[in-house]
Order: sequence, then C-alpha cells, then structure tokens
Amino acid sequence: MNDNPIGVFDSGMGGLSVWRALYKALGNESLVYLGDGLNCPYGNRTRGEICRFADEAVRILLGRGCKLIVVACNTATAMAIDYLREKYPDIPFVGLEPAVKPACLTTRSGVVGVLATARSLEGDLFRHTAAKYAADVRILTAVGEGFVEIVENDAEHLPETEVIVRRVLQPLLDGGADKIVLGCTHYPFLLPVMKRIVAGRQVDIIDSGEAVERRVEQLLDMHGLRADAGHRPAYEFVTFADEDYRRRLEHKAFAAELD
Ligand code: DGL
Repeated sequence: MNDNPIGVFDSGMGGLSVWRALYKALGNESLVYLGDGLNCPYGNRTRGEICRFADEAVRILLGRGCKLIVVACNTATAMAIDYLREKYPDIPFVGLEPAVKPACLTTRSGVVGVLATARSLEGDLFRHTAAKYAADVRILTAVGEGFVEIVENDAEHLPETEVIVRRVLQPLLDGGADKIVLGCTHYPFLLPVMKRIVAGRQVDIIDSGEAVERRVEQLLDMHGLRADAGHRPAYEFVTFADEDYRRRLEHKAFAAELD
C-alpha cells in the first residue's frame, strides 16, 4: 500500500486526456498533473531539449512524492523515456505509444492512419512497432498540424477548427484508412470534431487513454503501490508556465469534453 500520488506529465494540456482516464478508473489514487505550458509544443523540438524538460518535470513530480510517473505525451515518450528510465531506475514509468498494434490487428480495409507529431513519427518506438505489425497493412501517417495549438487555446469548438482537422484527416480517409490512431495526447480533445468528419464511414478512431490506465494498474499491482481502498485522493496541477495556465489546466481536467 502506498497513498502517495501518481505523477502525470505532458508538454501542456494534452496529457489531461490520460489524467482523465486515471481519474475515472482509480478513484482512490491522488494525482499530480504537470503540464509544462511554457515550452509547449514539443512536437518540433530536439531530443536534447525534450529530455531536459522531461527531467525537470520528473524532478518536480518526485519532489511531490510521486510513486509512479506517466509520461502522458507521445513525443516526450518517443524522445526521452529511455533517458528517464536510465536516470531514475527505481521509479516505474508508463509511456505513451500510438496504438498501432490493435489497429493493425483489426483493420478490415488493410489501411491504418496514424496521427501524431513529427517527433513521435520519427521515434524508434513508432518505427519498430509499425515495422512489426504492418507486414500486411499499409500505414499512412499524418502530422496533426495546428492541433496542439487548438487544444492549448481551448479552441476545439470554433468553426475554423473543423477546417483544420478535416485538412489533415482527409488524405487518410481518401487513402482508405478504416482505423485512425491518435498518437498524441492532445488529439482526443478533438474527437467530437473528428467524429463529425468521419460520420457515415466505417472508421474507428483509437485513443490510448484506457490502455495506459490498464498499464498503470498493472504496475501498481506489480510494485505493491496501490493506495488504500479508503484513501481520499487529492488532485494537484502544476506547470512551468503561470498561475493563469495552471488554473486553465485544472478547469480543462474537470470539463466534460472527454466524456
Ligand atoms: N501531447 C503531446 C504528445 O502526445 C505533445 C504535443 C506537443 O507538445 O507537440 O505528443
């Protein structure tokens, strides 16, 4: 038993899609969410920069007593998780990886679309998984150009957002993809828009939030780290940006958009 919090880290607000899955499933676990906000987006930054930001985030989360850390950012996972695991060997880390495997195993059209940041698509993790599961499947990739900025600015509901999202999704749909994998934790905030765009087609959009939550539970059990059943959880939000951003994180975490 361990009542210390679980740490969740992202470049900004995207990791709240993962935070939400944890919050809903693990009602007695305290959570500390760190959304960088100052250096976001990470999508086009160098590996060195991302390792530095991730390291700083982990030090803050460990300072808050976190017992397990979720790198709730595909980009930071792709660029920095090996570095973090090596530097902090005693801490269990859970990373984010595009759900290419389930998509490849269930596609009917034989075409899978993967939406992610440029850095994630370059990462070894994605390239290896894609090579492993995509023998008989065609994988089309697209960078969600502008998506992170939309989510960071709470602009999901603006009419121009649909234009931006359609521009990115259309080539995947035209290429015959029947599974679209969300390989960035910001993208689930755009699910309502995406669902409107794919309406009427046999297309599934796959998000990793619940799979990550299941992995967190496995690790809590493996390491004997679950909080006491009667533990009353606390939720904390921290950022490298300012107090206004911190408040926006908290607000977005509890907003109903991901239900
Ligand atoms: N939420 C992020 C990810 O999953 C980061 C996006 C970014 O900062 O560019 O990749």
